[in-house]
Amino acid sequence: MIYISFSNILSKSIGMKNGISESKFNSLCTKNQPLVQEVFRAKNKDGYDFLNLPNNTSIVRKIKKFVDEQAKNKWQKIVVLGIGGSALGTIAANSALNSGHERHKLHVLDNIDPDYISDFLENINISKTLFVVISKSGSTVEPMALYGLVKEKLADKFPNNYQKHFVFITDPKKGLLRKIAKEEGITAFDISPKIGGRFSVLSSAGLVPLALAGVDIGALLRGAREMREAIKKMKSAKNPALTLALSQFFMDIKRGKAMTVLMPYSSKLSRFSDWYRQLLAESIGKNKKTGPTPINALGTTDQHSQLQLYAEGPNNKLIIFFRILRHKSDPKLGDIMPKELSYLNDKKLSNILDAAYVGTAESLTAKKRPNLTVEVPKVDAKNLGALFMLFEFQVALLGLMYKVDAFNQPGVEHGKQITKKLLSK
Ligand code: PA5
Repeated sequence: MIYISFSNILSKSIGMKNGISESKFNSLCTKNQPLVQEVFRAKNKDGYDFLNLPNNTSIVRKIKKFVDEQAKNKWQKIVVLGIGGSALGTIAANSALNSGHERHKLHVLDNIDPDYISDFLENINISKTLFVVISKSGSTVEPMALYGLVKEKLADKFPNNYQKHFVFITDPKKGLLRKIAKEEGITAFDISPKIGGRFSVLSSAGLVPLALAGVDIGALLRGAREMREAIKKMKSAKNPALTLALSQFFMDIKRGKAMTVLMPYSSKLSRFSDWYRQLLAESIGKNKKTGPTPINALGTTDQHSQLQLYAEGPNNKLIIFFRILRHKSDPKLGDIMPKELSYLNDKKLSNILDAAYVGTAESLTAKKRPNLTVEVPKVDAKNLGALFMLFEFQVALLGLMYKVDAFNQPGVEHGKQITKKLLSK
């Protein structure tokens, strides 16, 4: 089970100026417990549909059938054309769960950099590629531009059946992509209109490309389901979503920690931080006032780049570590090190990684820098599903705490409209 260790935000660890007493934290958790029920009660309202996604076992069957049917095409590459919420969850899960061939089979084109895109398209065999076009609105400029580019290439090569190289994921009724799918007979999966893009990783938007790349999507949903039930059941400071949300809210509002650093000690989870960065930023950055700034860091890599700032720069950050308790494989050093490095003899890489995490957390605590740790038993589909649900729920709670609509993004929409106007001139 995923566990949150929050002792390093308590005043007994980092003092009252930067921390919070245990009794106050417990009483705040109890006082805010009704917000958890409020999120569950809203499950049929717009935005909150992310709570229902893990129940959708029929979509798993439908997707698996689609994946089986696609096997005959022997695709070498699965390429997602999507951006923001239609890309980041897939990238996070592909990096966390796939290795070797499967990871390299799935690509996500979430930018329109001309050099990168030409280089990419020139270096794949498009005859052996399935393009998964994902856009909830069905009209976002970037994926639509890439769709146009790819369609032209494919239609040139396969005028009669280029359609089989596409699958769309979009709104069930509205939007251009849905219209094109109908007109051209392209298979299309639905994204519920009641889910925000950044909360859609456990819908078809994430499940279809991930299943095509071999991820166990049933386990992903199972993990999310179990986490949701744990959040429903667990009370006060035992509740992982409430604990996380409250720590972040309190540290921002009462202790001036207006930035949240997500620092997994796991390369596999490094892209999870990108996913969370969008989730937090777009959901809570509102009203010219609210919104902790999310920052990504990776342990141990960024101990050698950003840690100096976190340890001795302004004390304005809450650091959230991820500690992985078990690894799939864990190379061990022999007894071959020179005397000066003999402390490494017979150590597993996980021993060194974990010592680095403990050292960093203890050192930051000694410097009165608030930090908490998300302990993850191991990086697998079930635990990743649980992490997606945990952080989505936490952000929904933050929406209630900051009193903002966590599910809209008017700032982003505004920029999108200006871009379209410019291009239409
Ligand atoms: O969270 C969101 O809703 C946004 O970040 C969208 O995911 C992003 O703008 C892409 O939109 P769409 O899926 O409609 O192309």
